[in-house]
Amino acid sequence: MKFITVKSYDELSKKAANIIAAQVILKPCSVLGLATGSTPLGTYKKLAEYNKAGDVDFADVTSVNLDEYQGLKGDNDQSYRYFMDNNLFKNINIDINKTFVPDGCAVDLAKEGQRYDELIKNLGGIDLQLLGIGLDGHIGFNEPDEVFTKETHEVELDPSTIEANARFFASKDEVPKKAITMGMMSIMQAKKILLIANGKNKKDIVEKSFFGPITPQIPASILQLHPDVTVVFSEE
Ligand code: F6R
Repeated sequence: MKFITVKSYDELSKKAANIIAAQVILKPCSVLGLATGSTPLGTYKKLAEYNKAGDVDFADVTSVNLDEYQGLKGDNDQSYRYFMDNNLFKNINIDINKTFVPDGCAVDLAKEGQRYDELIKNLGGIDLQLLGIGLDGHIGFNEPDEVFTKETHEVELDPSTIEANARFFASKDEVPKKAITMGMMSIMQAKKILLIANGKNKKDIVEKSFFGPITPQIPASILQLHPDVTVVFSEE
């Protein structure tokens, strides 16, 4: 594991964007696993700048996102599809038809999970998976549990996740209680993993995840078993 500590959010964003840019430059047809949330916003901004400057070309890239809230359509401004369209895809030259987010409105989320895993498999797996980390150690929406779940699956969001994500909604009550998330199989089979964490409040969970026991109670701790993980952490 490479553990990079930086001084500011701006530095974190630059480092993460550079790692993703390097991946795309070396392999233009990369499959990128992408995340939402506040942490990657700066990274996505930098990638858009690089693309605008002609330094990175996303024309042949495919993306697969980690997760989506249950019941939110892509045109809902709280959906993760909307987030990705507006914070990254519209600002780079990626082919929107090659950007994938699980369908949180699928009637049968179990079937949707199977379809999503099949899709990732048919793409040849993920070359670089970008991850944030929740205060409870979740990656994607893989919440603390008795077991690590392999497949893309429906989840009940942890009360602490609902609390943390309420900042994006008008009220806590509006935060969906369920979501669909990529499971540990597609994440752990990614060739490279880049986890970004920002802020003093993430320090404790980052320490527990990467330097403590591997347990499904701290989902990110499974990453200790991955052969190519880079963590970029800023205490800002
Ligand atoms: C979002 C996701 C989540 C976030 C995590 C951290 O697609 O998968 O695991 O990465 O909740 O969110 P922020 O960056 O808002 O602290």
